[in-house]
Amino acid sequence: MRILLLGSGGREHALAWKLSQSPLCEKLFIAPGNAGTLKHGTNLPFQVTDFEAIKTACIQEKIDLVIVGPEEPLVKGITDFLINTPELNNLDVIGPDKNGARLEGSKAFAKSFMMRHQIPTAAYKEFTLDNYPDGVTYLQQHALPIVLKADGLAAGKGVVICENHIEAIAEFDLMIQRAKFGEASKKVVVEEFLQGIEISVFVLMDGKNYVILPEAKDYKRIGEGDTGPNTGGMGAISPVPFANEALLKKIEERVIKPTVEGLIKEGLEYRGFIFFGLMIVKDEPYMIEYNCRMGDPETEVVIPRLQNDLVELMIAATRQQLNTINIATDPRTTATIVAVSGGYPGEYVKGREIKGIEDVNPEDSLVFHMGTATGDENSVITNGGRVLCVTSYGRSVFDAVEISKFEIEKISYTGMEYRSDIGYEFE
Ligand code: AMP
Ligand code: GLY
Repeated sequence: MRILLLGSGGREHALAWKLSQSPLCEKLFIAPGNAGTLKHGTNLPFQVTDFEAIKTACIQEKIDLVIVGPEEPLVKGITDFLINTPELNNLDVIGPDKNGARLEGSKAFAKSFMMRHQIPTAAYKEFTLDNYPDGVTYLQQHALPIVLKADGLAAGKGVVICENHIEAIAEFDLMIQRAKFGEASKKVVVEEFLQGIEISVFVLMDGKNYVILPEAKDYKRIGEGDTGPNTGGMGAISPVPFANEALLKKIEERVIKPTVEGLIKEGLEYRGFIFFGLMIVKDEPYMIEYNCRMGDPETEVVIPRLQNDLVELMIAATRQQLNTINIATDPRTTATIVAVSGGYPGEYVKGREIKGIEDVNPEDSLVFHMGTATGDENSVITNGGRVLCVTSYGRSVFDAVEISKFEIEKISYTGMEYRSDIGYEFE
C-alpha cells in the first residue's frame, strides 16, 4: 500500500511512526511533514490545502490511500476533490467529505445535529447580523459564565468564555459586527456553560460501522494548574483514570451511537476519525464539540497504546469492514509533555537549534516532532509554537509523567518551555 499522509504536526508524526511499522505499508509520504516524519517516510514539500499539488503527487507516486491529518483541508473539501478526480479512480481517502466535515466546520451545524439526534449538549441559540438585537437581549438575560462560539473554523481561538454580561456583549459585537474571526464569526453560537471534567473519545468510522480508540485527556492552558491562555494542547494522558467502564458505556450509548446513526440517517457517508470532545457533569456525558480528525497531542498518547496494525485498520475503514476489527489496547498508561517556544501562544521565534533528541531513552519514551524542520548540516530546528512532545509509558499517570519529565530534560533549545504538571489531578 502506498500512503500519503497530510499534515505536519505531532499527530502526523505519531501516525507516520505507527503506519511505517506495518508490513502492509510499502511506501509512506508525508506532506509537508516535519523533521520527525522524515524518519518514517518521504516528506513532500507542499501545504495541506494545495489541492492541485496533492492530486499531482497522488498520480505521480501512485498513491492508494490518503490519510488527512488536520481539519482545514477536510472542511475545504479535499476528500470530495480527490474522490471526484477521474485519474484517481482507485484512491481511498480517510477523512470525511465536506458535508461530514461540517461537524467541525460549523458549530451551528454540529449543535443542530446534536438536537436532531437527542445527543446531550449545552443549551444554545445561534445569532447572525439579522437577529443581532435579539442576541444582545438574550445575552443580557443569560446565566454566567456565557460561552460564545464563532460558527466556523478560527484556528482554535473561536471559543470565548465570558464571566460577565458587558464582556459577553462586547465579544458578541466584535464577532458579528466587526468580523473578529472574518467569515467564521458571521454566525455565533451562544451556549450555556457546563461545569465538569473534560475527556476526549476517538472513533474511526467507515460510513456504516465504527471502532472506539483509547480515550484521552488533554491540557489546553499554557500555565501550570490550568491557568493562562488556551493553546493547542500542552500535554495529554491515556487512559483517563475516572473513565471507568460504566462511564465509557454511557458515552457510547448516549453520544457515539446516536452520532453514528445520525450520520447514516442523514446520508452523510462519514469515513474517517471523529473526535468527541465531552464534558462530564455529575457522571453524565455532554457533547462540547466534534472534530473531524484526531486530536493533537491526544494522538501522541492514543496511537502508542493502539496494538492493531494501523494500515490494516485504515484498509478495513475504506472497505466498510470495521465490524470485523477488534481494537487491542496496551494496558499501560501513556503521558505526553509538549515543549513549546517561549512566548507561545503569543509571539515566538522560530529557527532555534534543538539538541539532545537522540539522548531520550527509547525503551520507555518516544519523541514526536510537532513544529520542527531540518536546519543546516542536518540539524533539527524549531519551526512552530509547539515544538515537540515526549510520550512515555508507565504503570500510572504519575509514573508516565515522571518518565517524560526526566527524558524531556535531556532536550534543549533556547526558549524551551513545558508544563511539568500534566496529569496533576490524578496524583
Ligand atoms: P473548542 O475550541 O470548541 O475546543 O472549545 C475550547 C474549550 O472551551 C473546550 O475544550 C472547553 O474547555 C471550553 N468549552 C467549550 N464549550 C464549553 C461549554 N459549553 N461549557 C464549558 N466549557 C466549554
Ligand atoms: N488538542 C485538541 C485538539 O486537537 O483539538
